[in-house]
Amino acid sequence: MRLLVCGGAGFIGSTFVRQRLREHGDEVTVLDKLTYAGREENFHDFAGEEAFAFVRGAIEDPEAVGGAIAGCRPEAIVNFAAETHVDRSIAEPDAFVKTHALGTHVLLEAAREWGLRYLQVSTDEVYGSIEEGTFTESSPLRPSSPYSATKTGADLLVQSYFHTYELPAVICRGSNNYGPYQYPEKLIPLMILNALHGDPLPVYGDGMQVRNWIHSTDFAAAIGHVLEHGQPGEVYNAGGPDEEPNMTVVRRIIELTGASESQIEHVTDRPGHDVRYSLSSEKVRALGWEPKVRFEDGLSQTVAWYRENAWWWEPVRSGDYREYYERQYGRALS
Ligand SMILES: NC(=O)c1ccc[n+]([C@@H]2O[C@H](COP(=O)([O-])OP(=O)(O)OC[C@H]3O[C@@H](n4cnc5c(N)ncnc54)[C@H](O)[C@@H]3O)[C@@H](O)[C@H]2O)c1
Repeated sequence: MRLLVCGGAGFIGSTFVRQRLREHGDEVTVLDKLTYAGREENFHDFAGEEAFAFVRGAIEDPEAVGGAIAGCRPEAIVNFAAETHVDRSIAEPDAFVKTHALGTHVLLEAAREWGLRYLQVSTDEVYGSIEEGTFTESSPLRPSSPYSATKTGADLLVQSYFHTYELPAVICRGSNNYGPYQYPEKLIPLMILNALHGDPLPVYGDGMQVRNWIHSTDFAAAIGHVLEHGQPGEVYNAGGPDEEPNMTVVRRIIELTGASESQIEHVTDRPGHDVRYSLSSEKVRALGWEPKVRFEDGLSQTVAWYRENAWWWEPVRSGDYREYYERQYGRALS
């Protein structure tokens, strides 16, 4: 396939691009604004390949989107482009509204105009928190943060383009991702890098928030699978095989890095923090996808990757991220 992958310079988008180039022989053009989270370093192992091209631009800019489509003539748009950090959405929601609402609208209009298939990458956070049981695709949408509320708005807009204009659009909602190339503001890389540097490990509240962990290669594969086999107009959940409370994840990272439990520091909980996310993936499993990486193995591979790839995270830890960290946690990184 020829694909336009929006937000392909980020964590999961670049994992998806690598997979499509290596395992499916696709031609891929990435359109990405390169926010703080988007990095050309994520293309390091395929940047020079003929089947790959990169265009810098924002999805809310119709000219950038039209130019990218005219340049690569894709069969489908896959949209990963998003502001993705809940804490930042609480501090500064503006960019979330712009990218998720306006950006998704511009992409849907372009897909209509050019007659393209469309896949929206979404999140389990649109369902809100669940104390027991698990969310299916027909569960009510109850987002709780500006991040999840704007992602939900984008999903509803995508569905309206299917119902109103018969745009062949699908949505794939993932649970919490982890793996190589994840920006260190997120729980797992934050804890790994702080543990390796002897910095405190800031745990929100009691740390008993439960997340349903999926390795980024498994979520990328689910997205590819839904793109190829999903029914237009449908939503597909892709949850990971394991659920763990944050404290268990932090303790496991301490073991894997040789850090000390004394580094754990309980900090004031995130406002409106969701207690538990859990996704049922029966519908996408029925299409033939299943997750391959168990959390135990994926986490130790991820710790090893961060240990071995200082070239990737050193520029981040020494740049703007330091200021963000100080604002967020009220103390400097070592
Ligand atoms: N990380 C997770 O745990 C998780 C779980 C489920 C779903 N998702 C969804 O997967 C997608 C990718 O998440 P990620 O963790 O890889 O995010 P990320 O923050 O690592 O990457 C986001 C990418 O989007 C780009 N971007 C942001 N705004 C843009 C704009 N206006 N125009 C063009 N590009 C823009 C950034 O430059 C970056 O490359 C998002 O839609 C997110 O909601 C993430």
